[in-house]
Amino acid sequence: MDIVDDGQAVGYLRELAGQQGLDVVAGAVRRSSSRFCLGVEHGDYNGTELFGVGTDRFIWMSYKPNGSDRVRIYSGNFPDDGVVEFTLGNVPEPKSVHESWARFPYGVDYVLHREGMKLDKGFDAVLYGNIPGGGMSRSASLSLNLILSMLDVNGIAVEDQFKIVDLAQAVENDYIGSPCGQLDQIMILFAKEGMGTHYNPKAQSIDYVPLGEGATDFRIVGLDTGTVRGGLEKSTYKIRRAECDKLVELAKAAGFDITCLADIKDERLYGKVLAEFEESHPDLCDRMTYIYKAQKRFYEMMDAWKAGDIETVGAIFREDGFGLRDEYKISGDELETMCDIVRRVDGTLGERMLGGGDKGASGALVRADSVDAVKAAVDSEYPKRQPDYADKYAVHVCRTVDGMKVF
Ligand code: GLA
Repeated sequence: MDIVDDGQAVGYLRELAGQQGLDVVAGAVRRSSSRFCLGVEHGDYNGTELFGVGTDRFIWMSYKPNGSDRVRIYSGNFPDDGVVEFTLGNVPEPKSVHESWARFPYGVDYVLHREGMKLDKGFDAVLYGNIPGGGMSRSASLSLNLILSMLDVNGIAVEDQFKIVDLAQAVENDYIGSPCGQLDQIMILFAKEGMGTHYNPKAQSIDYVPLGEGATDFRIVGLDTGTVRGGLEKSTYKIRRAECDKLVELAKAAGFDITCLADIKDERLYGKVLAEFEESHPDLCDRMTYIYKAQKRFYEMMDAWKAGDIETVGAIFREDGFGLRDEYKISGDELETMCDIVRRVDGTLGERMLGGGDKGASGALVRADSVDAVKAAVDSEYPKRQPDYADKYAVHVCRTVDGMKVF
């Protein structure tokens, strides 16, 4: 199902509800976006500042209280799972559900109850999304949508938006078992149309940064490789997190005054840590080098964004991609195939893998007048180079949007 706008999405949800015998007539519809991270990719769990935008691939959920304490919810993306039903406060043990998408609503129920929130109003709901898996934060979008909707049905107001971020991360960390950070939740929850979202972890602050005037008209392009990435807990992501933590521990034990890799900002400090561990732990030093350089580039990228210099933003995005591939070593074959293809197109300003890594989607910043050329290049090259995914890949041309909207 190719959804092109909200009206069509809502119509489709109504149709699905009818088929499944769920009553959402005249209920609310909550739309949650995907996100595109401009930097620092893999910086969240290393303590760096973050910058990104909300993008117009969404999850739409229509819901209405059903007068009982039961939740009945159906996803048009996972028809084989049927209607997921449970009594509030009575869901399977954490990390015990692996196959079904039901682990998300279960996880939300589990986390909200654990936080002492009084949830006793059940609801009927149907949802559908068009966010590609792996790279554009489908799971965070779903968790946030479910949390806000469940709180809404139960009349619970949470003022502190960072609390919502914590809850959504807890659903994934504690119930599902994915070791994700907070990048995705922050970039979706706070996203504003036409703005970049700048998060500073030390101050726990959000700033909105408009793109400077006179910028070349560009598009954000998601390059879904058609591959399926398993959970982060089963991927290189988990290994990289552990490596970064290990280097921080080693450095602390050697007397360096740091708490995370982002603290290694200063060239002299970087040089000293490198000198200390380069021989014994070359791989860990490569991870540090990526974070160190990407963090430096981050501030240049922010300045370029503010100045409307999207060419420089793109060039830095590309540099980050090389770092993620060669130093952080978190990319994958199909992701790099996409990058190689679009890099050759005149008008591609920058490209790299996106998100957790290994599989999923790459992304590119492309001049608006070159989008068709990028699509044509992918259509002609990708199926040849990755025949297993010839029928599964997709190119998503995105604009920036608000992260959360209720109709
Ligand atoms: C995944 C995680 C995020 C973040 C990115 C990489 O999307 O969920 O927390 O670490 O990977 O930047």
